[in-house]
Amino acid sequence: MHLSLRQIHIFEAVARHRSYTRAAEELHLTQPAVFTQVKHLEDSVGFPLLERAGRQIQLTETGREVLATSREMLDAIGRLDMRLADMQGLKRGRLRVAMVTTAEYRVPRLLAEFCVRYPGIDALLTVTNREKLLARLADNEDDLVILGAPPKEVDVVATHIADNPLVVVARNDHPLAGKKAIPLARIVEESFILRESGSGTRLATETYFAKQGFSLKVRMELGSTEAIKQAIAGGLGVAVLSHHTLVLEGENGLLQPLDVKGFPLWRKWYVAYRRGKHLSAVAAAFIEHLLADHDCRKSLPNTLFPFP
Ligand code: PGA
Repeated sequence: MHLSLRQIHIFEAVARHRSYTRAAEELHLTQPAVFTQVKHLEDSVGFPLLERAGRQIQLTETGREVLATSREMLDAIGRLDMRLADMQGLKRGRLRVAMVTTAEYRVPRLLAEFCVRYPGIDALLTVTNREKLLARLADNEDDLVILGAPPKEVDVVATHIADNPLVVVARNDHPLAGKKAIPLARIVEESFILRESGSGTRLATETYFAKQGFSLKVRMELGSTEAIKQAIAGGLGVAVLSHHTLVLEGENGLLQPLDVKGFPLWRKWYVAYRRGKHLSAVAAAFIEHLLADHDCRKSLPNTLFPFP
């Protein structure tokens, strides 16, 4: 059987995305080039690997077998690559990190600092919500993931890197701005803007209010924290967001946290990887770099963090 690593690599991407187009985008190839390579692989194997069910692409039984072996091969090559990089210390290497959307206010800066410190390291950062991140973790797609609470679904080694206070955010001229110890029964009268389903922030918010016996009046769902902030600034309602999302605005921003009883909700940031995974020297060094920035409160201006 004549098959090339390139075909394996391309087939794995098509199978993962269930799409020739998305695989082509990821690999920076044309869609026909991807299609041809998968066809060559099918010819070598002697059986179809993919089939169409309506508009969906499905794996055949042979396809599932070939996918499992392809992943083992790609993992083995990844491990070899890591060992070779480890032998060179931190002079060269690759770091694949995935993080939840809300972490974008801290982690990219830390990753950039890390890359400046180690110029031979190429970093690939994927930003997605918690649900999609857990799927990536289960598929072992990244060296490290950064998320708001260790998952129950996947066995991971998780290290606490920083605190993540969730606050109720409103526009500065909101009638409740500046009021002390606002009761939950009062805040739930407001219209809430929520992140999309699958978001860790949304899960924490809904779980908390449900536990306290309240349901929220949801005015809108948005798939981006910045979009939520703009909607609040436009006067649409309030939202529970990580306090870190307000840092860039500084003290003169349009938004502020409300002093609501029971808030902040204390979530934590974790860096995690699947238990049993070989951690590269680069990934281990990045964890150390994250830990060195542990005290996240120090980077928050006091006036932006008025709670005890
Ligand atoms: P999210 O995750 O960006 O998906 O809301 C944040 C968190 O888990 O705290």
